[in-house]
Amino acid sequence: MAEKISVPVSNDFCPQTLFVYGTGCEDGRPDFGLFCWFSYLWDGELGVMMCIGDEKQTKDNIRKNRYFSANLVTEKLLPLADYFGNADGRNPEKVGGDIAVEKGPETGVPILRDSPVVFELEAVRSFPLKEGEVFFCKIRNVLMDRNLTDASVPVEKRIGAIAPVSTTCETYFSWNGKNLGGWGEPAHSMK
Ligand SMILES: Cc1cc2nc3c(=O)[nH]c(=O)nc-3n(C[C@H](O)[C@H](O)[C@H](O)COP(=O)(O)O)c2cc1C
Repeated sequence: MAEKISVPVSNDFCPQTLFVYGTGCEDGRPDFGLFCWFSYLWDGELGVMMCIGDEKQTKDNIRKNRYFSANLVTEKLLPLADYFGNADGRNPEKVGGDIAVEKGPETGVPILRDSPVVFELEAVRSFPLKEGEVFFCKIRNVLMDRNLTDASVPVEKRIGAIAPVSTTCETYFSWNGKNLGGWGEPAHSMK
């Protein structure tokens, strides 16, 4: 076994799955932001817990409406997702009209048409911390590309086809471990 040493607090080398949260603003426009502090909980049924740091449009919208979407980020979506993670939603021009946005059938929240797995969530409880806030959410609906539900195809083939992106060390990684660029880089390839 390799020797272990104590290092400054971080979650480096602990990959996280990425989601774009879709929320509705007061004036009716949709907002999208990129998030990785997202995990699951059990309370008699599967639920979601997540943390939003600092004040931002996504947080305002979730506090006001409770309902929002979490859209799995894939390689195809990465440039757009990276943009959502680096642009301020308080600017009403953040989400332009050329982005394929639909409405969640259960809750009406904005969702990304091109994400293959989408949770429609309701934040039912939250704990404000010193700077961040932890939210506990009920899953009101799960939307999944039909191909993902075909049990005759091996699961590694189904997940390989959608190619979810993970992140650690401020770097994006493909499903098979390829470096897809540092935070803020993939957005440069967007028109
Ligand atoms: C890779 C990546 C992961 C992020 N994860 C989180 C997160 O889990 N929680 C958070 O509060 N902000 C996170 N952010 C920052 C938000 O995406 C950023 O504040 C963004 O502006 C939020 O969108 P909004 O301004 O439209 O609300 C992340 C950013 C990047 C690039």
